Amino acid sequence: MKVLFAASEALPFAASGGLADVAGSLPAAICQQADMDCRVVMPLYRSIQPKVRNQLTFLTDITVEVGWRKQYCGIYTIQVGKVTYYLLDNPYYFMRDGMYGFYDDCERFVFFSRAVLEILPAIEFYPDILHCNDWQTAMVPVFYEVLYKYHQEYANIRTIFTIHNIQYQGIYGKEVITELMGIPTYHTGLLEFDGMVNLMKGAFETASCITTVSPTYAKEILDPWYSYGLDRALVRRSDPIIGILNGIDVQSYDPETDPQLKKNYSAAKLTGKKDCRKALLEECALPDSNGPVIGIVTRFVAHKGIQLIQQTFQEMLQLGCRFVVLGSGEKLYEDFFQEMQATYPEQVHVTLGFVPDLARRIYAGADMFLMPSQNEPCGLAQMVAMRYGTIPIVRETGGL
Ligand code: GLC
Repeated sequence: MKVLFAASEALPFAASGGLADVAGSLPAAICQQADMDCRVVMPLYRSIQPKVRNQLTFLTDITVEVGWRKQYCGIYTIQVGKVTYYLLDNPYYFMRDGMYGFYDDCERFVFFSRAVLEILPAIEFYPDILHCNDWQTAMVPVFYEVLYKYHQEYANIRTIFTIHNIQYQGIYGKEVITELMGIPTYHTGLLEFDGMVNLMKGAFETASCITTVSPTYAKEILDPWYSYGLDRALVRRSDPIIGILNGIDVQSYDPETDPQLKKNYSAAKLTGKKDCRKALLEECALPDSNGPVIGIVTRFVAHKGIQLIQQTFQEMLQLGCRFVVLGSGEKLYEDFFQEMQATYPEQVHVTLGFVPDLARRIYAGADMFLMPSQNEPCGLAQMVAMRYGTIPIVRETGGL
């Protein structure tokens, strides 16, 4: 079976969140199965380093229509293990600092979604399944349904749309339909929702199958609070939303071999974990004592449950807990943790930023891992913590 996995980010090339981990590890896992050929297509961003760029092979270039525009799309390819990656180049759309948050994000990802369908003849790969992920690729099933399924080579393709987070839907003004999408007006109802254009809703209307990243989240998003309003569009589908729990790459995250750790260890031989704990406390200049060391590795945003942490933080400190915190995000929360570090320097250590190596040392060195998200479609950090023998403390939601 042939699968083309379309995502706006994928490791080892570009990452801002859990989607990149899944797009980096799931295709590789699928390719381990007999007779499965899973390939990945993503944008070629500026953040992809020149030394990686130099390893890419230029296949060809094509023209992709974005409304009335005809845009260049270079197709580069690289093999990572068994997985073939296609990186789509358009300097105007993707040679920028950062991946999202631009005034023309809708145009950028309409281009990308259209390009995913347009490259198939050029790469000579007509998948059985076109697997799309989150709002950035939500237009793929819409374009497929409206413009491509009638072509002979495309006729047997089926589309899967996976919701990694329903909070980000891709909501724009109605003008984008004529301006960017070139979709006949009698189809615009597919995309309209609450007086706006909602890309994720378009995928709900058109994908052959909808999945999400945990069985609990599949139920939760039928409730308006969790669905950010989109439950009304989901319940219209006749088939159920399938929740399949994510996994993690257990080879990369392996305390027995992880080169970041002071001492390697395993479930059968745990002694090395004590050395990791000692090394972490030293690195963070926290005194050694018997109280538990609690790790927090997260984006500082409300839905990660930072408010719950704030409300109970002093109490936990009085119980003798120490905290090693790594993350960045809303200033409000960054300030909170920095203030706590200044007030309790012997118990709190904060690093602002995204530091993957330190994250691994925290997973290994902490006794417990705190992740009380208000909602969490799946969550990967709690699985990594368990892999490193560190007990997750979570709120019961989604994958937690
Ligand atoms: C999103 C979700 C997270 C999930 C990840 C991968 O980042 O917020 O819960 O684990 O996608 O599916």
